[in-house]
Amino acid sequence: MAHALRDDVYRRPLATALQRLGVGPGWRCVDVGAGGGDVTVALAEIVGRDGRVYAVDSDPRARDEVASAAAAFSQVLAITQAGEDLVLPEPVDLAFCRFLLMHVLDPAVVLARMRRAVRPGGFLVAQEPITSAGRIDGVALSMPEARHPDVGAILPALVRQAGLEIIDAWAEAPAGAGPGAVSAYLGALTGVDPGDDPVVLPPLVTVVGRAPDAAASVAG
Ligand SMILES: C[S@@+](CC[C@H](N)C(=O)[O-])C[C@H]1O[C@@H](n2cnc3c(N)ncnc32)[C@H](O)[C@@H]1O
Repeated sequence: MAHALRDDVYRRPLATALQRLGVGPGWRCVDVGAGGGDVTVALAEIVGRDGRVYAVDSDPRARDEVASAAAAFSQVLAITQAGEDLVLPEPVDLAFCRFLLMHVLDPAVVLARMRRAVRPGGFLVAQEPITSAGRIDGVALSMPEARHPDVGAILPALVRQAGLEIIDAWAEAPAGAGPGAVSAYLGALTGVDPGDDPVVLPPLVTVVGRAPDAAASVAG
């Protein structure tokens, strides 16, 4: 349930990023920390049967969840693997993660592995929150169980340090008051019903990076 709600309220930054890149039929992608497979399915619909989407997650239960969410898409391959150990059978055009780096031990290690998975000239998109910039009735949100709840605030620098050129970066926060998708999402995430209090969910920072092309890799 929480996955569907997350997909609903945070779908705009995902759609913007994919459109901005021109992701299309035949693309090879990896969704790292795929979870229930919301992003995997969105990618599979775009890349079509000539494309490929690797859905990678360290939790073996995610493989079953993705397999059932993406049952209609033969282009999806679910793999149980930690982002820190990411190895794929082929280079990809796009390495993607959302709500992943906030949970891993060292985001820089995972980004470096994602960068290595991308073909020369290919793309990396990371979408991570600034949890403490979210508000319920003006009061800052917190997520003590996440290792890096505010990793979104330093995401552009992390992507750059991983050796990618930043093509675009922005933050977007769903907001609302009273019943609706935003309040339902918050309820599913925290177990707290905000009632009529105004809510600003954690801004999601999107960073679109491009790997150097082959010539630049050789030169640099
Ligand atoms: C909050 S969910 C996000 C799911 C999905 N990316 C989305 O946006 O809907 C985080 C996922 O990352 C996975 N995860 C956590 N640490 C990981 C790691 N080191 N390597 C790969 N996956 C990891 C978890 O098992 C979980 O499925």
